[in-house]
Amino acid sequence: MHSTSPPGSPLHRTSGYHSHAPWYCWLCPRTFRTHISKRTCATVLMILALAVICPFFFADQIRQMTRSSALRVEASSNLLQVHLKHRTEIRLKPRLKARIRNQHRLKYPLEPRVCDSERRAGVGGVKKDPYMVLFIPSRPNNAQDRAAVRETWAMHGRLCNVRVIFGFGRFEDETLLEQVQLEQELYGDLLQTAEVIDAYHNQTRLILAFFQWGLAHCGGAQFIGKADEDTWINIFGVLKYLQQPEAQQDAVIGHFLMEEKVKRLPEQKWFLTKAEYANDTYPPFAVGQLYVFPRSSLPAVLSASIQIPIHWLDDVYIGGQLPEFLKLTLVKIYERCNLWEVENLPCFGRYNYIIHATPADKKREIFYHPCMQKYRQQTCVVPTDQQLEEEFSKEEEALQHFVKNNLSVVAKEKDKETLVPIVHLPARNVTQRVP
Ligand SMILES: *[C@@H]1O[C@H](CO)[C@@H](O)[C@H](O)[C@H]1NC(C)=O
Ligand SMILES: *[C@@H]1O[C@H](CO)[C@@H](O)[C@H](O)[C@H]1NC(C)=O
Ligand SMILES: *[C@@H]1O[C@H](CO)[C@@H](O)[C@H](O)[C@H]1NC(C)=O
Ligand SMILES: *[C@@H]1O[C@H](CO)[C@@H](O)[C@H](O)[C@H]1NC(C)=O
Repeated sequence: MHSTSPPGSPLHRTSGYHSHAPWYCWLCPRTFRTHISKRTCATVLMILALAVICPFFFADQIRQMTRSSALRVEASSNLLQVHLKHRTEIRLKPRLKARIRNQHRLKYPLEPRVCDSERRAGVGGVKKDPYMVLFIPSRPNNAQDRAAVRETWAMHGRLCNVRVIFGFGRFEDETLLEQVQLEQELYGDLLQTAEVIDAYHNQTRLILAFFQWGLAHCGGAQFIGKADEDTWINIFGVLKYLQQPEAQQDAVIGHFLMEEKVKRLPEQKWFLTKAEYANDTYPPFAVGQLYVFPRSSLPAVLSASIQIPIHWLDDVYIGGQLPEFLKLTLVKIYERCNLWEVENLPCFGRYNYIIHATPADKKREIFYHPCMQKYRQQTCVVPTDQQLEEEFSKEEEALQHFVKNNLSVVAKEKDKETLVPIVHLPARNVTQRVP
């Protein structure tokens, strides 16, 4: 029974369509139906459906096509090296990516291979433990700063069997997790503790967790310490201090500040409340740029940390309060400066064992300076007394001039921190080679 309405009227078309069209044509918008045939409509719908479904079926082929833009793919245990036209990319294998997501349950999701003496067993299977392990607290996304440390003074460290480990805490960003995992595959020098949330203000807890790991895994190391990421460390110079007899046990080695007043104003960067630290002056403490313990002192340091309330100034706490509590010997490194104090010194890297606030580019500047040439050679050169004497006398005049004229001027301009004059160590017998 066809409608009596005149052909072309809306009512006519609608009812006719409904009674005869296949179900899928109901999907055609009403406006279409007025202009196109049922068949066209069905075809259009089919094409649309195919367009949606196809990529699922051919995903692998499409991926293959994309990958073929890579000229070559090399696979090692966990990495893919993808050689593209103009560059090479290193990617994680998908299997590893999946594993990363399940790692949160581990106490240490990332563990360095640094103290893995079994694996590092050299020719003839001789185990070689690191002489010193230095932990550097790092933020996970600071890959560039880590690269600069590895490339410069940690390189000196490797020559002397000193190993640097970069540590951070727990964080959630999955992309960043993959990035640090990739970095770990390449360098094997990252440590992540899942027990402490990664944050600058959690620094003390993080370092204690790193030390705990170090104690458990770097049993062969003679010294375990902490260094700052934004610092230049003259490893050869520091080793001189470690060789002193007093440094061998019940000691802490670092650059000490004496009778520092506690900062109480909230606008000061390093302020503490009375609740965090009651006394008005700190005990002598090793500045955070570098402090080192003989490994034998570390168990006591960690147990003491359970008894003394923790606050976030790691150098005051670990470098001062704990040693005071344990009555450790303070082995003082004198040669410490701020970058602004030494910037104009000829070959300044030579004289200062710790230089504070040295960003990545400055580290490279020091490392690649022509006068550091011989320190880029492939040996551990703890300077002998004679070498030191020679070096000192050669540049003594320039140095004295600088200390007398320039240091005081700079100090007046930037009276931020206690000025630390450059003092040379009294000559000691340091001809002994580091093991
Ligand atoms: C430090 O870590 C603890 C434990 O993981 C966490 O409860 C705390 O919120 C963290 N502190 C900061 C400042 O993130
Ligand atoms: C506070 O400082 C004084 C002297 O500076 C010292 O005798 C005392 O033991 C300190 N107290 C604490 C709790 O550190
Ligand atoms: C010290 O200051 C003088 C002038 O104030 C300047 O000529 C000189 O280059 C500076 N640096 C050193 C290393 O003496
Ligand atoms: C320095 O040490 C070396 C080797 O240990 C020794 O032969 C030499 O006599 C020592 N020199 C001095 C001045 O003590």
